[in-house]
Amino acid sequence: MCGIIGYTGHRPAVPLAVKGLKSLEYRGYDSAGVAFVQNNKLTTVRAEGKLGNLESKLETMNISIATSCMGHTRWATHGAPIERNAHPHKSWDESLAIVHNGIIENYQELKDQLSSKGYGFRSETDSEVFCNLIAEGVKQTGSLEKGLSWAVTQAEGAYSVLVMEESNPNVIYGARCACPFVLGVGQGENFVASDVPAFLAYTRNVVFLDDGELVRIDANSWEVKNARTLEPIEKEVHHIEWDVQAAQKDGYKHFMLKEIFEQPRVVTDCLAGRVDWQKQEVLLPELGTLPVPKRLHIVACGTSFNAGMWAQHLFESWARIPVSMEIASEFRYRDVILEEGDMVLVISQSGETADTLAALRIAKEQGIPVVGLCNVVGSSIARESNVTVYTQAGPEISVASTKAMCSQMAVLLLMGLSWAERKNLLDASLRTEMFDGLRKLPNLLEAELPRIREDAKRLAREYSSARSFFFLGRGVGYPLAMEGALKLKELSYIHAEGYAAGEMKHGPIALIDPEFPTFAIALNDQFFAKVKSNLEEVQARAGDVIALTNPNSDLSVKHKWVLPDVTYPLSSFMVLPALQLFSYESADYLGKDVDQPRNLAKSVTVE
Ligand code: G6P
Repeated sequence: MCGIIGYTGHRPAVPLAVKGLKSLEYRGYDSAGVAFVQNNKLTTVRAEGKLGNLESKLETMNISIATSCMGHTRWATHGAPIERNAHPHKSWDESLAIVHNGIIENYQELKDQLSSKGYGFRSETDSEVFCNLIAEGVKQTGSLEKGLSWAVTQAEGAYSVLVMEESNPNVIYGARCACPFVLGVGQGENFVASDVPAFLAYTRNVVFLDDGELVRIDANSWEVKNARTLEPIEKEVHHIEWDVQAAQKDGYKHFMLKEIFEQPRVVTDCLAGRVDWQKQEVLLPELGTLPVPKRLHIVACGTSFNAGMWAQHLFESWARIPVSMEIASEFRYRDVILEEGDMVLVISQSGETADTLAALRIAKEQGIPVVGLCNVVGSSIARESNVTVYTQAGPEISVASTKAMCSQMAVLLLMGLSWAERKNLLDASLRTEMFDGLRKLPNLLEAELPRIREDAKRLAREYSSARSFFFLGRGVGYPLAMEGALKLKELSYIHAEGYAAGEMKHGPIALIDPEFPTFAIALNDQFFAKVKSNLEEVQARAGDVIALTNPNSDLSVKHKWVLPDVTYPLSSFMVLPALQLFSYESADYLGKDVDQPRNLAKSVTVE
């Protein structure tokens, strides 16, 4: 999704804005641009494609030392990803410029109204309509602040927007409505951006802006007001602990690889302070403030959905909680029956996914308690949930989610144990097995990852010309299979489908031939015998099989990819990086853009 940075202070602002945009690259984008005032003239420089193109363009120009600048990376929604549609956009009279993230839903109606008043348009974007709307607001009210406030009352949709005037570039205004926005408070300089890494090199003091708020910054002051009434709002300044190093590649070729290899530490961090090893107890005080749900609805998108589906098995069998799995974009438009005693668990790495946030709000409107499982502190979902449990995985930069899923699974497992305990259902042997297993898991994973990577590399090369893949599993292996297929398609653009192994014979098996390989999760657990027979069906049709399995498993397939024996369901923590690394190595071998796959965004803040 689009990335925004606005700066006003004492430093050369244009290079600072470009650097800030680089740390927002993880959000995904297809064009970029900056706006600043040079020789009293509002200037925009924009380029298609990656930030390098914008930088090359800026290098050829004689840029003055502007100390205020707005920057933007655009992920196309209205209008193709070409320079004309890139941000910043200038108003028709060129008196002001904006950068905008989100969608203005009534833009056509507004465009017609503005056209009739003489405004012209140079792009196909809804953002330019918003820009002219603000210009009209300034005309009607006599000031930028009031003009922006007026425009906010006219525009429908989800957005965060920054605006700068040619006549006074040292003051930048912004407004937030359902898209992420944070204010960075510095000394003699201030920032507004889509996310904290954009300015973390300069300040750790952060104000999280809320929907319906308007912000004004200059070099020495900042204020937040109600965007409609312009009444001042008092905001708390938070201090961010994690540093910018954590958001860099650390010697790995790609962020994705780094993040996969961080998983042993992620498990350790997730467990830190949440487990009493002596008493073999889970400590999740956040969760303890709510009763154990009678019925649970897990709502999420993408990889977070797969993590939720994995946990469904544990919640049902350990804590005997009926669980329904819900894709957020479906949940929000269904008449879902929510009853007293129900709980909604929303899972979101970013905490900003528009559909998941909408589902959260629906549940809250109906008085149903919402638990948010999030990675990003201060994100919208984290702030709006009744109770937030953080995954503590650290910033995830690669668009494809890896360590976030690992951290979600670790916390979900603890939630399952905790609810089982509270219902007096936690079997003593399960308790000991899980606590012993969890304690050993990070070291075991750390030791195994290099070998898993080597296997992944070898297999990825062997299968690099495959055009399609099935991923099969049963029980917790099914959501893992779905995740394996999701990773392969999003990274390497090889068609892949995740299937419940038992469903194969109800249609998909018709596709099997020697050119259509199957990737199976066939561990030594309660599902082994059934998966084995499904794989025999595949092989009987001359299908080629790679199976993730354990030593000594009674399986005869082309490639046995052997993982160490780990107790169920902790074995999933071995399967997950194997699937991730297979996709990573396939994409890297095929020369794909691993960290920023085409057409994808890290944080999907529009429907
Ligand atoms: C996007 C990302 C996926 C992610 C999904 C849900 O599609 O590309 O990797 O799984 O959003 O994101 P969330 O932040 O809600 O977990």
